[in-house]
Amino acid sequence: MHQHFPLLIVGNWKMNPATVTQARKLFQAIVERMPLHLQRVLTVIAPPFPFLADLRSLNTKDTLSLAAQGVYFEALGAHTGEVSATMVKSVSAKYVIIGHSEQRAKGLSDEEVAKDIQAALAQGLTAIVCVGELMRDAGGNYFGVVEGQLRAAVAGLTAKDTARVVIAYEPVWAIGTGNTATAAEVHEMKLFIQKVLADVLGRERATAMRIVYGGSTNKKNAKELLEVGLVDGFLIGGASLRAAEFVTIVRIAETYAKGIAKTR
Ligand code: 13P
Repeated sequence: MHQHFPLLIVGNWKMNPATVTQARKLFQAIVERMPLHLQRVLTVIAPPFPFLADLRSLNTKDTLSLAAQGVYFEALGAHTGEVSATMVKSVSAKYVIIGHSEQRAKGLSDEEVAKDIQAALAQGLTAIVCVGELMRDAGGNYFGVVEGQLRAAVAGLTAKDTARVVIAYEPVWAIGTGNTATAAEVHEMKLFIQKVLADVLGRERATAMRIVYGGSTNKKNAKELLEVGLVDGFLIGGASLRAAEFVTIVRIAETYAKGIAKTR
């Protein structure tokens, strides 16, 4: 069963597109297609850092929020290549993706993920925290992998923090492969994540947190992932670089969410 909050659809552009001109074009194409009065879906675009401030000014209809693809937990100083939560906030981004598997693969640790989350929350940003196993094994050890990442990420959260933390389940084997997890697999993992969250934070707070899915989401599988997977939204890579498809997924989510609202 879904909670009452709006679904969250996030486009993670990763290291795309190549230039600011192309980024503006893609963003404008999304803005033009985006329905004006979404009632049950929040939409977010996470462009590369250099494009964030620029895209803010193109968001004239205010239908999209912006996200950074990461932050570094220190506030200022000698940290070449890093970006702080304050910097991200200062260009009006409201969200930040933390702990993406593509960053974990380069050495981002659970400990640093936890610190980055705290830094983001301290600035009033919403943290979209990615967890997910590299691969699945017959013995079910992948549940332990997800549990470890999750416990490390949420251990330090207070009651008021939980409203601004979203968990993104992104199984690495499903990212960019066209190999989506089945809706049943996603639902099973959603329940497991809720169970771990409940254990750390208490049931009430755990069920108030969004759990979204990422990994080869597209306009063909989105509906089933919502209906059967019962996820609270998506973190979309490849399909978010195609304006029409991204907006189609947003519309699918809005239709679905309005439908379940009616049956209540
Ligand atoms: P794809 O949708 O391209 O599989 O990427 C998922 C992802 O990693 C989003 O953060």
